[in-house]
Amino acid sequence: MSVTRHKPPTPSSDKRWNLVNAAMRRNGYADHALIEALHSVQEAFGYLDETALVYVAESLDLPLSKVFGVATFYHLFMLKPKGRHACVVCTGTACYIKGAGGLIEGIEGRYGIQPGETTEDNALSLLSARCVGACGLAPAVVLDGDMLGKQTSEDLLARLGGLD
Ligand code: FES
Repeated sequence: MSVTRHKPPTPSSDKRWNLVNAAMRRNGYADHALIEALHSVQEAFGYLDETALVYVAESLDLPLSKVFGVATFYHLFMLKPKGRHACVVCTGTACYIKGAGGLIEGIEGRYGIQPGETTEDNALSLLSARCVGACGLAPAVVLDGDMLGKQTSEDLLARLGGLD
């Protein structure tokens, strides 16, 4: 007997959810897809936040407590950072070739933080992602949810300097 699963709507029109959906679909929306689904969120978004955890839980028909438990248990998963602003630098192949390393070095040089870290004043968190789904715009950065394409270190530092 086939069971019709409840498929929740994606949390937003952000195309990166397609990457997450594809990972879950590949696993037939089975329970064991959980770790793979969380990986795909982290690779596309740079971290896991509550919206993503709720979405994955609903998609896989799992209790949120279980999804949250797995996300916090495994050190390889990064929960939403505490900085007021989150800067996710894509370090996937296309972006790496186009200079993502220089973007990270620029931020390290000015703010003294590495991917996964937050400035002492909690203003900025730096993260990296494996592919944010915008390879044509490499090197790509997602700043507070906004996709920024073809970034240079100067562009990015200027934009970060203008944040409150
Ligand atoms: S590798 Fe950076 S967007 Fe795909």
